[in-house]
Amino acid sequence: MQHYKEHIANRIQEEHDHLRFLMESVSQSLAQPPMQDFAEWKLEQVWALRDFRNVLAKHFDLEEDGGFMADIIDTAPREKRKVDQLHLEHAEFLNEVESITVELKRTPGFSEVRLLRDRMTELLSGFRNHEALERDLIGFVYSQDLGLGD
Ligand SMILES: [Fe+2]
Repeated sequence: MQHYKEHIANRIQEEHDHLRFLMESVSQSLAQPPMQDFAEWKLEQVWALRDFRNVLAKHFDLEEDGGFMADIIDTAPREKRKVDQLHLEHAEFLNEVESITVELKRTPGFSEVRLLRDRMTELLSGFRNHEALERDLIGFVYSQDLGLGD
């Protein structure tokens, strides 16, 4: 059991690093003026956002359904409010990526892309806070488990 939990916890942390990297590259490419036709550039960005959203959704699936959240509530029922909060934020992040994508599709030119890049940066900073809370909870569940000699 301990091995499985450790595996999930490690995987979650690895994915956090990867997701931060993806978010940074999406924002950076939104900052790069198109070398080619705007429409062509925009399509590439839209697809990158779609791919990113899917990776993010799968990461949240892992956290929500891979046992991590259930373990927290089992180990520390009083942390349920935090878990509910994390859950809620997952939905908000996914909605925001979707909304940025839809807005980008409507954007007529590169000068209007700036606002979306700012939203992406905002998302990244929200994600950093979010994963910091998850990191604390993972650490907490572990120390509890070790204490019980699971
Ligand atoms: Fe996470």
